Amino acid sequence: MELLRVMEERRSIRKYKKDKPVGDEEIGELLEAFRWAPSEGNLQPWLIIAVKDGRIIKELSLAAYDQGWVSGAPLIFVVCIDIKKTMNSFGERGMNLYSIQSTAAATQNMLLMAHYKGLGACWISAFEEDKVYRILDLPEWVRPVAIITVGYPDENPKVPLRLDVTDFTFEDKFGTESRVRWKGIGSIFKALKKDDFEGL
Ligand SMILES: Cc1cc2nc3c(=O)[nH]c(=O)nc-3n(C[C@H](O)[C@H](O)[C@H](O)COP(=O)(O)O)c2cc1C
Repeated sequence: MELLRVMEERRSIRKYKKDKPVGDEEIGELLEAFRWAPSEGNLQPWLIIAVKDGRIIKELSLAAYDQGWVSGAPLIFVVCIDIKKTMNSFGERGMNLYSIQSTAAATQNMLLMAHYKGLGACWISAFEEDKVYRILDLPEWVRPVAIITVGYPDENPKVPLRLDVTDFTFEDKFGTESRVRWKGIGSIFKALKKDDFEGL
């Protein structure tokens, strides 16, 4: 699959096939994609808890402000930041910015790989951190920043619209109107009908 196509076609999947677990090989490929993300000074400030235990997944779903669909995921990765490593190397800016950016980049790598492999995934940041600390026995030097649900898709969501690149891109200085016409370049969505989009 062409890279842009993988990016365009990836959707947040919130419904998963029951009785179709994610195999160890797929899990390995997802983690492989994750670890090749860029990070500040190649610090790789991340830690991951891979959760397959249905009771723990249910508890995580409650911690995610009771987003009930989360409990239907056969696999969850909880992406965490190693606070000690980050603080020692880059201090406050490392904590507030670099480690968030690099774990986000790695998370997106994993979402794209999931889609490429025919899996579905969803990135969740709306959760109560204190609850996740308790559920996973996390020490205080580890901060959970994202929950990624993974499974085989059992839904085909409509396409949530995106802004055109010219709606958010300036040239040379803020506030200028972009003269370059990037709109729609490479988009697979030209072939879609109105009904395929969310909210149209
Ligand atoms: C930082 C971040 C946090 C998110 N948190 C949640 C969440 O808590 N619950 C949820 O259902 N989706 C969550 N999402 C998924 C977004 O709702 C989704 O990416 C967006 O609606 C666009 O849809 P798409 O991913 O299918 O393109 C999150 C996405 C990101 C990047």
